[in-house]
Formats: sequence, structure tokens, C-alpha cells
Amino acid sequence: MRLTVNERAYDVDAPPHHTLLEVLRERLSLTGTKLVCDRGECGACTVLLDGVPAYACLTLAAACAGQAITTVEGLPALGGGGGVLHPLQAAFIRHDAVQCGFCTPGQLVAGAALLARTSSPTDDEILAAMSGNLCRCGTYPKIVAAIRDAGAEMAARGGEAPGG
Ligand code: FES
Ligand code: FES
Repeated sequence: MRLTVNERAYDVDAPPHHTLLEVLRERLSLTGTKLVCDRGECGACTVLLDGVPAYACLTLAAACAGQAITTVEGLPALGGGGGVLHPLQAAFIRHDAVQCGFCTPGQLVAGAALLARTSSPTDDEILAAMSGNLCRCGTYPKIVAAIRDAGAEMAARGGEAPGG
């Protein structure tokens, strides 16, 4: 199968029953996408398929051929490139929105997808967009603050992140 991940094409020799999460981590060494529950309950494996958040543990890799797959490793480019972090990644650092870090890649990917749609989401929009991403450490208030802050920075730059 041919997959396009973070704007790079890969020819992958994997069985048709392998999930996108297995292929990303085990075939492409893109281990930023985390395996936690492996049954669609936690959001740690969230990636973007054509800009829309999806659980990689519930998605067959073969079904993703022809779609633009974005993982946490692709967020800097999604945020504007230039070798710098996506504004949301930088805001997570400023707000100390990480404890153990297992949920963080999925939180970042889901949050970046929201900010690609709107740089000024309401709190209700943030909570709805992030409702599929659980944090066992309970960093939710800091995650929401980081999303608000990153959105404000993106708006001040004069636009939303490309690639949404
Ligand atoms: Fe996919 Fe938890 S690892 S939803
Ligand atoms: Fe530990 Fe979210 S930071 S699960």
C-alpha cells in the first residue's frame, strides 16, 4: 500500500488487517502516535486524515491510501513550518500542559485540527473538540488554556494554520 504521511509518500508492505497505528509505529518508526487503550476509548493515537481527527488504533492502514495522514511529527509543518514548533506545541510548553505525556500527542493533534478550523474557539467548542482525548493526569484546564493561547497567537499572526 502507498501511504502519504506528513507530506511524504511511503510504500508499505503490511498485511491488510494491520491498523494505521501499527503501521505508523512499527513500519514507519513514527512512534509519536501512542498506543494506550487500543480500542478507541482514549484518543492517544489520534492522527489527522485529510485534516479530520481519527483514532489510528481503529483505522485500517489500507483504508488510508489516498488520504493525507498527519501525525504529531507533522505538526510543525502544519503550523507554518520553518523548523519551529506548531503554536499549540509551544503553548503546551508555556502552560505546562504535560504530566506523564502519554496523552499529549493525541491532544496536540486534536487541538491543532480545531485551531485549523478556527483560531478563536469558544470554551464549549474546545471541550467538544477535545472530548475524545482523555488525560489520566487531569491536565484539562492547562490544555484548554494552551489551546486558547495558541489560537490568540495564530489570530495575531493574521490567520489560521494551513492544512486544516
Ligand atoms: Fe486508540 Fe486509545 S489507543 S483510542
Ligand atoms: Fe498523563 Fe495526560 S499528561 S495522561
